[in-house]
Amino acid sequence: MVNLVFLGPPGAGKGTLSEGLCFQEKLVHLSTGDLLRAELKKGSPLGSQVQSIMQSGGLVSDEIVATLVEQRLAEAVKEAVPGFVFDGFPRTIRQADLLGSTLAKLGMKLDAVVLLEVHEEVLILRLTGRRICRKCNKIFHLAYSPPKVDGVCDTCGHDELYQRADDNEESVRERLKVYAAETKPLVAYYEAKGVLLRIDASRDKATNVRNLREALSPFLVKL
Ligand code: AP5
Repeated sequence: MVNLVFLGPPGAGKGTLSEGLCFQEKLVHLSTGDLLRAELKKGSPLGSQVQSIMQSGGLVSDEIVATLVEQRLAEAVKEAVPGFVFDGFPRTIRQADLLGSTLAKLGMKLDAVVLLEVHEEVLILRLTGRRICRKCNKIFHLAYSPPKVDGVCDTCGHDELYQRADDNEESVRERLKVYAAETKPLVAYYEAKGVLLRIDASRDKATNVRNLREALSPFLVKL
């Protein structure tokens, strides 16, 4: 089993790169952002509780995300999957401690934490141009990876590509501030544990995919 965390600021490409890697290696993609957006879409009480926090770019409480992750892990573990990619989780030191203890309880461990490094101005351009398929969640970018037919998903053919409510410049700047204050300390935390891998993720997608696979090659051979 191989368990990875993708760490990096909003727009670093965590979703894009983990989507491709999970598809190729049959790993489970566990994105807390996607789990929370699914609650918003269902209109659940939890969804209503977190809606305004997410829209403004703040962090949802550690307890809420840890519970969602535990539930998803418990479901997937029954299916004997080859491993997990945690995307956007952990985001605080407390979440990192919770992830460590949850994995230990399940007899699992974290193999590597991939830090995706990208300059701030590139992040803003990536996020404000992002569009997502309403049906299958495929990620596009209006300039860098547009759909083949305007407004239509290449993967499932659905004709609604939407812009996330938190992908406006004001929310993006707030998310970057929150990342620097709450999540960046995880770099030193995981460096001290000897599991941190740094990737320059400012390149084009194909180069990033190549660099990612090269950095992860010692772990991928185990699959
Ligand atoms: P979440 O959904 O996790 O958002 P995020 O961390 O802000 O990250 P993004 O999804 O915005 O970026 P990404 O790195 O995945 O980039 P992507 O690959 O899409 O969280 C949203 C909110 O939920 C949070 O703000 C918080 O409120 C809450 N939340 C979630 N998890 C939480 C937690 N653990 N604790 C507390 N609260 C939590 O790429 C971005 C764009 O760039 C795309 O358009 C893509 O096509 C394009 N792109 C990607 N790579 C390239 C490239 N190489 N070249 C050009 N364009 C590229």
